[in-house]
Amino acid sequence: MSAVRFGPAERLHGEVVAPPDKSISHRAALLAAMSAGPVRIANYLRAADTTSTLNALRQLGALVDLRDSDVVIRGAGLRAAGESDTPIDVGNAGTLMRLLPGWLAAQEGKLFTLDGDASIRGRPVDRIADPLRLMGASIEPTDGRYPPFVVRGASLEAIDYVLPVASAQVKSCVLLAGLLAAGTTTVTEPAPSRDHTERMLAGAGVAVRRAGCDVSVTSTDELDMHEIAVPGDLSSAAFVIAAGVLVPGSHVVVRDVGVNWTRAGFLRILQRMGAIVIADLEPETGPGPDPCTGAVTAIEPVSDLDVSAGPLRGTVVEPDEVPLAIDELPLVALLGCFAEGETVVRGAQELRVKESDRIAGVVDGLRGLGAQIEATQDGFVVAGDAGLRGGVVDARGDHRMAMLGAVAGLASREGVEVVGMEAAEVSYPGFAEDLARLA
Ligand code: S3P
Repeated sequence: MSAVRFGPAERLHGEVVAPPDKSISHRAALLAAMSAGPVRIANYLRAADTTSTLNALRQLGALVDLRDSDVVIRGAGLRAAGESDTPIDVGNAGTLMRLLPGWLAAQEGKLFTLDGDASIRGRPVDRIADPLRLMGASIEPTDGRYPPFVVRGASLEAIDYVLPVASAQVKSCVLLAGLLAAGTTTVTEPAPSRDHTERMLAGAGVAVRRAGCDVSVTSTDELDMHEIAVPGDLSSAAFVIAAGVLVPGSHVVVRDVGVNWTRAGFLRILQRMGAIVIADLEPETGPGPDPCTGAVTAIEPVSDLDVSAGPLRGTVVEPDEVPLAIDELPLVALLGCFAEGETVVRGAQELRVKESDRIAGVVDGLRGLGAQIEATQDGFVVAGDAGLRGGVVDARGDHRMAMLGAVAGLASREGVEVVGMEAAEVSYPGFAEDLARLA
């Protein structure tokens, strides 16, 4: 395990290009493998998580050809995933673990085992097992809830499914299964979550409809997909943005970032906190579905982000906002340490079942650096303004906790040593180098 020290920075200056979006890369590869013809994915994320996806798809019969930052995938076809003798290793990738079974559940008579690393073995899959069983597949998780688990493919029936928690991963799993199920499958979300799957399916010619919190797909014979370009990852850019906002005197530009409004909650929270971030954002509530047909847009909007350091005020993040900024909430806690007044996050119990328990990790980690922060059942409360002294943060094998520690170091008075910094490779290879270049 590597320990890396991030000393206090004087000011950050310059430009970085955000790494390709992890969520969109996973989906692009998966849908390419479900397509019959070759698909070229431009700007595919070359990181540990998305490499697990390519390896899994190879195991299922897809041909994968890596060409610099592009990947060309010749798919197995919608109903022709190949059976594998060995378990499919999803590594650390929760998105792969929860989306792939949607496709596999419809492979009639075939059997697949999915497993992953120690963190994955602690993350619940009952939330996808429940709807897939209702559709007719058989899913057998360990202890009823966890990986490793077996998927037995079957002929699926469409369902109307109300998600118990807002989760783009679970929604996407059910929609993918819905492509292969007889009838129209509808998923109802308690609150909007990222809609990359819907947009990509719309781009592949699938009739995806949205009405309020309902999203529907109808069974299809093939996906019409040839080329797709992955925008920069706002969740990765968020660490650079937070550093630019926190380190006094900074001015940083992050290029080519995806600003789909279902991902941009963090930017809206920053705006409320008084941060200076200039961006060409998709309007709140997005372009919305076509008012006549309910058809979903296929476009993923992109913007440069221009970030300057400045004073912050505390804010309250309410439950509806949580799915739109879920991976950035640890950064909200860090920003809260430097903001005037209190910063509160509510309704974010999902943070407890991410790559690590991110409520416990954020609270223990930041408190160890001098923060006044309390955990609640479903979030945290930060008393701001005092900044951070510095110290040691254990990434706990979680990429976002490693990057949080690094940014905390730049903004702190004495610097932070991050134990397990290599975890950042899961989503942002070259992160420490990008920070060093800006410093
Ligand atoms: C993701 C959705 C979110 C997010 C995860 C990626 C996705 O999880 O935390 O990092 O790609 O769909 P949930 O949908 O489970 O909240």
